[in-house]
Amino acid sequence: MSLDAGATVVPNDLESYWMPFTANRQFKKAPRLLVGAKDMHYRSHDGRQILDGTAGLWCVNAGHGRKKIVEAVQNQVAEMDYAPSFQMGHPKVFQLASRVGTLLPKGLDHVFFANSGSEAVDTALKIAIAYQRVRGQGTRTRLIGRERGYHGVGFGGISVGGIVANRKFFGPLINGVDHLQHTHNLEHNAFSRGQPEWGAHMADELERIVALHDASTIAAVIVEPVAGSTGVLLPPKGYLERLRAICDQHDILLIFDEVITGFGRLGAPFGADYFGVTPDMITMAKGITSGYVPMGAVGVRSDIYDAFMDGPENTIEFFHGYTYSGHPLAAAAGLATLEVYEEEGLFARAAELAPYWEDAVHSLKGLPHVIDLRNMGLIAGIELAPIAGKPTARAFDVFLRCYEKGLQIRTTGDIIALSPPLIISKSQIDEIFGTLAEVLKEAA
Ligand SMILES: Cc1ncc(COP(=O)(O)O)c(C=O)c1O
Repeated sequence: MSLDAGATVVPNDLESYWMPFTANRQFKKAPRLLVGAKDMHYRSHDGRQILDGTAGLWCVNAGHGRKKIVEAVQNQVAEMDYAPSFQMGHPKVFQLASRVGTLLPKGLDHVFFANSGSEAVDTALKIAIAYQRVRGQGTRTRLIGRERGYHGVGFGGISVGGIVANRKFFGPLINGVDHLQHTHNLEHNAFSRGQPEWGAHMADELERIVALHDASTIAAVIVEPVAGSTGVLLPPKGYLERLRAICDQHDILLIFDEVITGFGRLGAPFGADYFGVTPDMITMAKGITSGYVPMGAVGVRSDIYDAFMDGPENTIEFFHGYTYSGHPLAAAAGLATLEVYEEEGLFARAAELAPYWEDAVHSLKGLPHVIDLRNMGLIAGIELAPIAGKPTARAFDVFLRCYEKGLQIRTTGDIIALSPPLIISKSQIDEIFGTLAEVLKEAA
């Protein structure tokens, strides 16, 4: 496929780029190229305005093209492009760690930086296993994830993750991983508003896994408080509390993967705040810089950090890190982003909008193909009945039709996921669900 070379902003050949998580051949026949973004909208290469119903990929929480963040990144690149991250530092990364530390739940006050959610997850899993060893519990190496969980695409992340397509091509993965069942159940919980009533007992599965392997072999459990990428699965009332209690009982670390739920998505700084359940580590990415510059991070309980601060002072305590850990541009973007969140009260704004959003989501009830509607904070999941023998085709058709009508949605399987920037207005919420209603009536 060749595009018009006369247009200034489009490449004239699409072949070389192997696109991630994309139907490459379909895309290259009918490309959807984004060339500009401001506030709640993208602009496509053919000049259309597209309302961003997904904050990019769940990340642009502050909205697009925000002056403060743009200028912070521009100034930083002019002042200092890069600083080595090993045995050296630069001021902004320390400032950002402190700022993130003040946002994190009490007790989690150390921050390790990475460059993506996947790296944050692998970092947290490595901290968990290494922590058990440095505190003299080196037999605790086993990791427990959950079916349908998404923890990025590193080998650690796909090993504890539970999305079949992301795992089945890649061999035996890492050893010693077990999975809890997912909690999604349409029979009991379809069309719940917010947290479903049924399913807290699913956490007891952890007791079964502990009984099978013995707690002395288990380092950590990792779950997303709200599973996002698999299609918005909400934790049943009492479920996360129960997981926390079982982990405490057996001295197992609990990691919340908050790459999506962090930074205001639920109307609170973190899912941990929203649910009132504090894990031992929190992985984050996306909203930490509003997606302007890649960054991931792990928030860590201080006594976990302290356990590593042993031995001679001039030795490296933890043999892990990335060339770009705490990159100056990401740190500058992160600091500016957190200021925008605070100055504009965006987390509180998300909380205020959540009831309006909930009503808008559930207005789709009764439309063709809709078998479930789920919502929490500014997240929605709209589950469609698949076309017989063609799983994913219906949702993808809806995605393409929405794009044609100037609305960006995301689909996973036959589920539509929505997660707009936190600056969205009520009329833009109406526009999202108005367009979706139209499209659902027309779709195959
Ligand atoms: C919960 C969760 N963890 C990890 C990741 C991976 O993040 P990244 O794509 O930045 O590696 C994602 C991405 O969507 C995610 O939702």
